[in-house]
Amino acid sequence: MQNLEFKNKHILSTGDLSRRELLVILDTAERMEGCVKEQGICPLLDRSLIAMLFLEPSTRTRLSFEAAALRLGARTISVSEAGSSSVAKGETLADTIRVVAGYADCIVLRQPRQGQAAAAAGLIRIPLINAGDGAGQHPTQALLDLYTIRRELGTLDSLKVALVGDLKYGRTVHSLFYALLPFGPQFIFCAPRELEMPGHIMEHAAENRLPVSRTEQLEDALGADVIYMTRIQKERFTDQAEYERLKDSYVLSRALIERVNKDILIMHPLPRVNEISGDVDGLARAAYFRQAHNGMYVRMALLALVLGADIP
Ligand code: CP
Repeated sequence: MQNLEFKNKHILSTGDLSRRELLVILDTAERMEGCVKEQGICPLLDRSLIAMLFLEPSTRTRLSFEAAALRLGARTISVSEAGSSSVAKGETLADTIRVVAGYADCIVLRQPRQGQAAAAAGLIRIPLINAGDGAGQHPTQALLDLYTIRRELGTLDSLKVALVGDLKYGRTVHSLFYALLPFGPQFIFCAPRELEMPGHIMEHAAENRLPVSRTEQLEDALGADVIYMTRIQKERFTDQAEYERLKDSYVLSRALIERVNKDILIMHPLPRVNEISGDVDGLARAAYFRQAHNGMYVRMALLALVLGADIP
């Protein structure tokens, strides 16, 4: 089945995707998972070349995109740090993107400036996938988060989801907020005052009368169906003293989960630092490593869709 509605489309923000489009991506990811589990590969893109342009550090996103491309039979070219590209010589992102677009059929871009993925996409005729733009958006992470929630809980509808930690700079929670909206969620935003959700999200929630509660207490977040922990991100702070003061604001322990809500689904985009204790890892509801593994199937689906593959 060739689904041409995504062909040549940029994937920049989850706010651009309808409920139906989100479900097409998740259903395609399920097909990719089935194919990989049966055959190890799913060679739908053996004539494609994909550029991985990572100008900010990454383990999961870069390697799962590379793995996705290779399992689809595509070839890849990559930059894995800004220092090894001509960005280090002062080349602009705009020039880099225009050049790379001449070599590849699709660009996967991570870079540190909010809004620059969209600006870069406007310069080229091949699809660009935003793999994280500073404190802006991380749409492919949110898509794998939806995939994981649906897989673990059997539904995406009418869930109470607690977003915890660095909600100000956390691009994963910004994307997840918009990705969940078509499914009628309730939200608990749990953050220190200094790291609350940005104004555009609070305004969107207020304008649409979304059920959102705010708290600074981790225990309040445990009343949800899903708790989505995030790291306090050292690299986003200009004041390191403020980072030191806030970095251990929330630490989710096994004892706390077992006392308050042992049925809650525990998620984290990773990497974690201290915010989930190691003793949580053995709980059946600790989904964060399964969540990271699901990323490969979701990214296979996105590459196959934007490159117009004939999907079985
Ligand atoms: N979740 C995530 O984006 O991880 P990486 O920074 O390792 O890609």
